[in-house]
Amino acid sequence: MRRVKVLETVAQVQAWRASLAAACKVGLVPTMGFLHEGHLSLLREAKSRVNGGKLVLSIFVNPTQFGPHEDLDRYPRDREGDLQKAAACGVDMVFCPRSPDELYPGPTAVWVDIEGLGEHLCGATRPNHFRGVCTIVSKLWAVVRPDVSVFGKKDYQQLAILRAVQRNLFFPLEVVGMPIVRESDGLAMSSRNANLDETSRRQALAIPRYLETVRQRFASGQRRVAELIGDAEDKLAPGSIAYVEVVDTTTLQPVSEIRRPALLAVAVHFGGVRLIDNTELLP
Ligand code: PAF
Repeated sequence: MRRVKVLETVAQVQAWRASLAAACKVGLVPTMGFLHEGHLSLLREAKSRVNGGKLVLSIFVNPTQFGPHEDLDRYPRDREGDLQKAAACGVDMVFCPRSPDELYPGPTAVWVDIEGLGEHLCGATRPNHFRGVCTIVSKLWAVVRPDVSVFGKKDYQQLAILRAVQRNLFFPLEVVGMPIVRESDGLAMSSRNANLDETSRRQALAIPRYLETVRQRFASGQRRVAELIGDAEDKLAPGSIAYVEVVDTTTLQPVSEIRRPALLAVAVHFGGVRLIDNTELLP
């Protein structure tokens, strides 16, 4: 199989981008690597949207979106495996910054942050997480200058926030969201699943089962959030819940009754591994 082009500096990526014809469309899928089928679905979507243009994958475990006691050091990595998968998906160039300094050159830190959409869900339990995400994705958009950038809906809040960044900072590109991809037993695909031991992996199935239970209650007409999610502790045991919330899909503010499109979103730790998942509840 052909080897994919790998660039490691911002200067190299800028030169590569400048060498493309003006009409050449560019798709970018930003990732932290350890690619799974969910990431590959984003790459395929981006490929299909550039009409024979160029597909770019970035792989960078971005330190600024991790809190001091989070899993930055334990985040799984597999550069060679990722490059093979990228080649198989028709990626034209992989940007693997050789060190964080490449994207955070200093001497002063410059941040991109948002108001409002980051108050609840992951924003409430991971301070500065979205500041790190908004900043790194803005930098990647500025360097790669894609026409389209594709993200997964498992990180629903991230997607909503990045749409707001794109709109407010006038990045001339389209942000596309893709459905969650699940394992055959229902667990949402995540690079972090690799850190689950056998027992935790089995226990984590409580998450998709719980989402299905709530969906069924909703389908039978229940609209009161307290009734829909009141037994989360019980249903998600022995997981340790970071949050279980129902929010408006547009504002990401909690609702007590579902009268407009809503999102049930959860973050639960199993065996010390933080997993997130969600499902839309559409009245
Ligand atoms: O979703 C992710 O993997 C990361 O948050 C992203 C968008 C690549 C930014 O580091």
